[in-house]
Amino acid sequence: MISHMNLRQKFIQFYSDRGHVKIENASLILQNDPTTLFTSSGMQPLVPYLLGEKHPQGNRLVDIQPCIRTVDIDDVGDNRHLTFFEMIGNWSLGDYFKEDQLEWCWQFFTNEIGLNPAKLYVTVFEGGYGIEHDNESEKIWKKLGFPQERISKYGADKNWWSRAGAPDMMPIGEIGGPSSEIFYDFGTPHNTSYGKTCHPNCECGRFMEIGNSVFIQYKKEKDGSLSELKQKNVDFGGGLERILAAVQDDSDVYKTDIFSDIISVIENEIGKKYSDVENTTNIRIIADHLKATCFLISQGVTPSNKGHGYVIRRLIRRSIVKMTDVGLDIQKSLPKIISSIKQIYNNNEFGEFTDTDLLNEIGKEADAFERVMHQAYNLLQKLEPTAVNIYNLEQSNGLPVPLALERLDNLGISYKKDILSEIEKLRAIHSQQSRSSSTGMFRGGLADHSEQVVKYHTATHLIHKALREVLGHDVRQDGSNITGERLRFDFQSGKRPNDEEIIKIEEIVNQKIAEKLPVYKLELSKEQANTLDASSFFKEKYGDIVTVYFIGGDKDHPETAYSKEYCGGPHVQNTGDIGTIKIDSIKKIGASILRLYAS
Ligand code: SER
Repeated sequence: MISHMNLRQKFIQFYSDRGHVKIENASLILQNDPTTLFTSSGMQPLVPYLLGEKHPQGNRLVDIQPCIRTVDIDDVGDNRHLTFFEMIGNWSLGDYFKEDQLEWCWQFFTNEIGLNPAKLYVTVFEGGYGIEHDNESEKIWKKLGFPQERISKYGADKNWWSRAGAPDMMPIGEIGGPSSEIFYDFGTPHNTSYGKTCHPNCECGRFMEIGNSVFIQYKKEKDGSLSELKQKNVDFGGGLERILAAVQDDSDVYKTDIFSDIISVIENEIGKKYSDVENTTNIRIIADHLKATCFLISQGVTPSNKGHGYVIRRLIRRSIVKMTDVGLDIQKSLPKIISSIKQIYNNNEFGEFTDTDLLNEIGKEADAFERVMHQAYNLLQKLEPTAVNIYNLEQSNGLPVPLALERLDNLGISYKKDILSEIEKLRAIHSQQSRSSSTGMFRGGLADHSEQVVKYHTATHLIHKALREVLGHDVRQDGSNITGERLRFDFQSGKRPNDEEIIKIEEIVNQKIAEKLPVYKLELSKEQANTLDASSFFKEKYGDIVTVYFIGGDKDHPETAYSKEYCGGPHVQNTGDIGTIKIDSIKKIGASILRLYAS
């Protein structure tokens, strides 16, 4: 069986033999890229070269890029989603195109690593957004021997790749193009709860995507159109762990040799088997999260309340909770698990871990977490034990639902029998909402908690209020998405603003910024918040106690504030910190939904 070491070597060798130069991995912490907090695909460090700048190492490149995908955190625990993974990648910067790419991809998966060709399926772009169906890729796959029934066509939601998703999601200047994916068929029976019939992109678990050839040839222009880049590029990425799963013909990535030693250590420590269904998910989460944590700490990230530090905090806390759930003694087991992670990666180019740093950082966070839990327990005793309250305690105070319920049991406080199903529904709604933002990382559509994002966040509150003043009280927020470069605010309104009204809205916002109004928050009962006429977001579920952000007035007289909104923050302390805001565009995106961009 091909080991993870062999797979890396084979990939690099295969593409080196075809004129590619191996490039250094980029750091997990992205530089100059506002789209995600971490490097989450191999192409991100290469954007300038895909746009046409000359790469010092040539126009055929290959690498294995460590990636962190925080958007998948809630899915971790199944057989294939990972926070940390390695992406094998090859690039043509304006050199070869579809013909060579698809043929080499095919040869690599079949001849080189021996996947059964009859188990491979491919997909191509069916066309859309003014771009034609990718007939060329379809023809190439046929020439390579694929029967029609193993070639599927999908729209831009599946077969278009850019850092922001489909063409309508791409910000100005973003690059992307149609993609052709390759899937492995594990032959498991179809589960009809995922749809009547199975197909490569079905989520039932039968198929797993193992590679994605993106033909990056377009750029989003100011007028919303897609222009042709001056060069046609290939961006291929494949998940190393998933490919190993295909090699072993078992869809569980945790059973591959890149995880098996970590899993064995955890099994030994708890004296229970990974295969027992009550342990599987927890053990997967512990292994995944601690692995990601080790890589992030080794790259200098430490737990905090914002940005990269917030993600690592979430990973450590969740792994500690899961370790407690399966009965692990954290002090005793943590060093052993970390050492098994180190062993796997120390023999290759990623090995930079030092025990002391890892144990120190994780240990400090574990202690801090205990204190947080203590506070959350106090709150728990004061609140009604409803599903919404318990779920909100998890979201806002970091108290995991199973621990909250256990505590209630110990205190003899009763709650509804079906509370866990109710809470799962809330979780599903929340996960849907965070997924629909392009980064899906923070509530409120914030890409991160950097200074600029926080300024824009406060600016959205001012814009929201100004829109209501100018267009009327029926204006309702429909969503927002904020990056360090711009803010996007979707709203429902019976009226589309004309040029004069847009100028007026912009003036009001900048006036409120010039007034240097204080920004503060109060924890209120829903009743108090409604009496103050605070606006809530209709897509969000709130607990009985809500946080309301005020702009203007003061804490003793919040009723005099200019803006009052239910919100989880974070915000600047004074509108004077925001700087001038310019409304760049307002476009209609639905029957009565408008999308505003400002920067
Ligand atoms: N950019 C593509 C992806 O991340 C292929 O590398 O899937």
